Amino acid sequence: MNKFEIKAIFKQYNSASDLESIEKTLCESAKEALKNAYAPYSNFKVGASVMLQNGTIIKGNNQENAAYPSGLCAERVAVYSASANFPNEKIISIAISSKSSNIKKNNTPVAPCGACRQALLEYEIKQKSPIKVLLVSENNTVIESESIANLLPLSFTLNDL
Ligand code: THU
Repeated sequence: MNKFEIKAIFKQYNSASDLESIEKTLCESAKEALKNAYAPYSNFKVGASVMLQNGTIIKGNNQENAAYPSGLCAERVAVYSASANFPNEKIISIAISSKSSNIKKNNTPVAPCGACRQALLEYEIKQKSPIKVLLVSENNTVIESESIANLLPLSFTLNDL
C-alpha cells in the first residue's frame, strides 16, 4: 500500500481591493451579477462572472425553477453562456459571489458545488490552460485558486474516455 498526498495552495485576501485591477473588476461584476439571480425558492443568490482572453466578461446567476432540479447554478449559467457565445476564446478566470437572505453576513466565501466544479474543469482541460477561481465573500474577502483542478482532485475528465 502506498499513501500519497494531494496538495493545493490557495491565496486569501482581506479585501478584493488588494487584487489586480482586472480581477477586482471581475469580483465587482460577480457581485453585480447576483442581483439578477432568480432564486425565489432558496433566497440564496449567487453571481458568477467569467473573464475571457479577449477581455469580455460574461455574467451568470442562479436560475431556480418550481421543478427544483430544473434550476441551474450561477457558475454553469456563466460558463455555458461563455462557451455558447465565444467557443474559441480561452477562459482566464471566474469570480463567484453570493448573498443569503439570512440577516447574518456571510464572511466566508462560498465555493462552487461539485457539479459546477466538474462543469468548469471541462473547459480547463479543453483549453489546456488553468482557469483562476476567485471566491468573494459578502464582506469582500477573497480566496483565490490558480485552477479549477485544485478544487477537484482525482477528477474524471475527457482524457479518461
Ligand atoms: N448555487 C449556485 O448558484 N452555485 C453553487 O455553487 C451552489 C449553489 C445555487 C443553487 C440554488 O439556486 C441555490 O444556490 C441554493 O442551493
